[in-house]
Amino acid sequence: MGAIFQSLGRTITAGVVLLIVIALLVGAVTGTWIKADYGWWTFFMRWLHVLSGVMWIGILWYFNFVQTPSMPKIPDEQKPAISKVIAPTALFWFRWAALATVVTGLLLAWMNDYIGSALGLQKPNTAIGIGMWLALIMAFNVWFIIWPNQKKALGIVHVDAAEKAAAAKMAGMTSRFNTMLSIPMLYCMVAQQNGGF
Ligand code: HEM
Repeated sequence: MGAIFQSLGRTITAGVVLLIVIALLVGAVTGTWIKADYGWWTFFMRWLHVLSGVMWIGILWYFNFVQTPSMPKIPDEQKPAISKVIAPTALFWFRWAALATVVTGLLLAWMNDYIGSALGLQKPNTAIGIGMWLALIMAFNVWFIIWPNQKKALGIVHVDAAEKAAAAKMAGMTSRFNTMLSIPMLYCMVAQQNGGF
């Protein structure tokens, strides 16, 4: 057991194996086995979408609830542990999870056959459409505002001190803006099939 949890790769593999065991057990107990028909693939895409969405918004909230408020309490000589090691790794998973969420979300809307109607905010897909637009604005902010400015703020791209401070401020404010949007976005995301409006 210890050998599994010493490696992230082995831990993720164990999670997938556990999922397969649970699916087989449920099949054996209920007699209903997974049928990989169109409906199931749509469900599978929804699962991939929620996984990547949790990774994205989880890291966004880590930045806003944990890392940013903690920075003033960290002594200056220890700050590089955050800016040189933790933040670049967090930003890697953050931006690629955002892209994966957009791709799986758009594929899901396409597979559900309402991508045009949702993006056009037409009935009966208005709720998910609003959620999709909010999340698309957030993903745009991640790739075209937060990431370029974080590269300057963290010293991945070298700029003078004034530009570095301005970039850190812009990245921080946009991250806060996305945290604000995440609240109605998630409501709209789950409202579509759960009667939220
Ligand atoms: C541009 C980005 C996104 C797009 C295009 C998108 C699109 C979609 C679509 C089409 C659905 C299916 C809705 C339905 O018919 O019930 C959905 C569901 C869902 N999305 Fe997103 N989404 C995006 C971002 C996110 C993010 C960032 C999260 C954060 C976790 C998220 C979480 C969810 C959840 C939990 C559901 C399941 C709703 C349910 O089963 O009730 N989505 N999304």
